[in-house]
Amino acid sequence: MTDEVLVIEGDGVGREVVPAAVRVLEATDAPLSFASAPAGDAVAERTGEPLPAETYDRAAAADAVLFGAAGETAADVILPLREAVGSFANVRPARGYPGVDAVRPGTDLVFVRENTEGVYAGHEAEVADGVATTTRVVTREASRRIAEFGFEYAADRGLSVTVAHKTNVMRATDGLFLETVETVAEERGADYEAALMDALATELVTDPTAHEVILTPNLAGDVLSDLAAGLVGGLGLLPSANVGRDGGLFEPVHGTAPDIAGEGVANPTATLLSAALLLEHLGHDDAATAVEEATETTLAEGPHTPDLGGDATTEAVTEAVVDRLGREATTVHEQ
Ligand code: NAI
Ligand code: MG
Repeated sequence: MTDEVLVIEGDGVGREVVPAAVRVLEATDAPLSFASAPAGDAVAERTGEPLPAETYDRAAAADAVLFGAAGETAADVILPLREAVGSFANVRPARGYPGVDAVRPGTDLVFVRENTEGVYAGHEAEVADGVATTTRVVTREASRRIAEFGFEYAADRGLSVTVAHKTNVMRATDGLFLETVETVAEERGADYEAALMDALATELVTDPTAHEVILTPNLAGDVLSDLAAGLVGGLGLLPSANVGRDGGLFEPVHGTAPDIAGEGVANPTATLLSAALLLEHLGHDDAATAVEEATETTLAEGPHTPDLGGDATTEAVTEAVVDRLGREATTVHEQ
């Protein structure tokens, strides 16, 4: 059966790296069909709506969504889209790759981030002139489902779990989060390490290999995973999966990169690895592995975009990956 992928390029480099990923997906033998829909700053300028209702509905109906990035309207686009696909978990792997200069090349982390509440619940207000507030929402239900997801993800892969929290300050909200994690761990007979998120940030820089899966509340996961991008060679490398109930939305961790947008030199790696996560989510495991391996070989042997010290274009890197996909497929057939 063919899976329908809704493609939302968005703004900036989203329009460069998403077509690159579609080109690579089409070069696999996975049975996919593609449709595209608009979202972001450009459509907001034309219509006043950063996320047209039709895009939301089509995202909800698709088997998977491949998303690039949105600019100033990012929060108005990505938060409802994650909701449209029924996602409550944002999975962000951050690994060092052979061939890529990295601060900590041995890094191999996966952030499992709660992505429906916390300070991203959107309850912000300017309550008086010069005074603004936000309401941090933490519920037992959302904490339980992310904890169950995180422990299961780690158990499936034989990985340890570190839980990031700040219960010494946010006693009620992170208190409830950590207490719920503890309950879920007890039910499953699982072990975990609880780490204060500020101290954890230091440790991720000094010794990232001390951790494997990091289960985090919303904001902490956003910040710590960008920190991890810095450890492994930059934002051009980090993919992410927004998953949960059934659908899924796959996107690079980075934004629209306005400083390089339009130049054709954005690193497509983060989006290609997101496409591999999309294939895995749809059960096309062989194609997922093939895309991941062809992307890793290209990181190891080049060509590289300027963020990795090379001078190749997005297109040249993408063609190198497509070429390696073809060669690996041929090798498999010949065996
Ligand atoms: P950014 O991720 O767009 O860029 C940060 C730095 O990383 C820049 O120097 C950029 O050139 C570099 N970079 C990012 N992606 C790259 C790639 N594929 N290849 C090479 N270099 C890359 O973050 P920034 O500058 O904070 O935000 C820019 C815009 O993106 C803002 O309007 C923001 O709202 C939006 N944004 C959207 C997100 C989303 O749609 N999910 C996520 C983060 C930011
Ligand atoms: Mg971010």
